[in-house]
Amino acid sequence: MGQVALRGVSKHFGAVEAVRDFDLEVEDQEFLVLLGPSGCGKSTVLRIIAGLEDPDRGTVVIGDRAVNDVEPKDRDIAMVFQNYALYPHMTVGRNIDFPLKCRGMPKPERAGLVASAAEALGLTTLLDRRPAQLSGGQRQRVALARAIVRRPQVFLMDEPLSNLDAKLRVQTRTELIELQRRLTTTFVYVTHDQIEGMTMADRLAVMNEGALEQVAPPAEVYAHPASLFVARFIGSPPMNTVTGTPARLDGELGIGTSGGQIPLSPAQRQAVEASAATTIAVGMRPERLTIGTTGPLPATVAVVESLGAEHHVICRLTDDQEVIVRIGTDAAVPEEGAAVRLDFGVEHLHLFDATTGDRIGR
Ligand SMILES: Nc1ncnc2c1ncn2[C@@H]1O[C@H](COP(=O)(O)OP(=O)(O)OP(=O)(O)O)[C@@H](O)[C@H]1O
Ligand SMILES: [Mg+2]
Repeated sequence: MGQVALRGVSKHFGAVEAVRDFDLEVEDQEFLVLLGPSGCGKSTVLRIIAGLEDPDRGTVVIGDRAVNDVEPKDRDIAMVFQNYALYPHMTVGRNIDFPLKCRGMPKPERAGLVASAAEALGLTTLLDRRPAQLSGGQRQRVALARAIVRRPQVFLMDEPLSNLDAKLRVQTRTELIELQRRLTTTFVYVTHDQIEGMTMADRLAVMNEGALEQVAPPAEVYAHPASLFVARFIGSPPMNTVTGTPARLDGELGIGTSGGQIPLSPAQRQAVEASAATTIAVGMRPERLTIGTTGPLPATVAVVESLGAEHHVICRLTDDQEVIVRIGTDAAVPEEGAAVRLDFGVEHLHLFDATTGDRIGR
């Protein structure tokens, strides 16, 4: 069984705490995406699972055994790196065959495995070429074929698509998802690309500065980000946040900001009252805002960016904070400079303690 667990894992490099108190359980056959900004520790987590780095503390489990003292080659994993490092002097076929040969498997047995890995990745007609005679996407697929040929329990992938161009990335992304469904193998996949994370993951593990912020299915992470960091990291354009303090207007508890009073639902009022937060960041997704003549937040339209399939309207609140509104091409486009009001359903607001970054309420 290909489950992976990290329990209480930490890793320092000198003064840098690359991984902090990490607890993560990856289920058998799950596609788990480790997502976070550059330098947050994603590769270090992957290298700890692979056995290429030793943790300072904590236990690493693969399948049903602790592997802290197991050599990388005996962990039943395969790792694909960003720079897939094919052997330039070997043909595609020999590159794919290499891990089997290293294990001393007899040739006839190897030939069948190489053929089926090549078939799975659409490389059958390219087996006699050398890496230099392939496109970037084809080379990437050879690296993947070389990883799957041994049928390990777990695949570890570190930004395997990052050096492909945009179109090829999308295509290879789809192929990888299909491959994972067919192979029924556990994937731990590292990326800093939120689109990759959102589209590929069964569950996303969002990391920041060496620690896990949230582990949940992509839709849950988007709808209920557990922290201000996750809220701002997932979504494009990013979630707007307006900072204010709990305040009563006509007896009703809301969030008073210098750009206007933001109303709350009864459940949100309860959550705000129950929390110790004194400063609150109110999050609003750009697609959940509407521009019109009514609504709690007066604003001026600063710039309209047209992207073809949608418009991004950048509005300025009365206190100069910027808020981005995303509207479809069917909607009326407001004039730049127009005085408008921003409206939203309170059920779409996200509340965070601005000091700790923790989510308030569901
Ligand atoms: N061998 C090392 N020696 C010293 N510091 C290291 C070493 N490896 C990683 N670090 C530091 O640990 C932190 C985490 O690095 P890591 O490579 O895991 O980040 P990452 O999330 O994979 O980033 P990226 O998206 O840029 O690949 C960084 O601050 C990095 O500089
Ligand atoms: Mg990395």
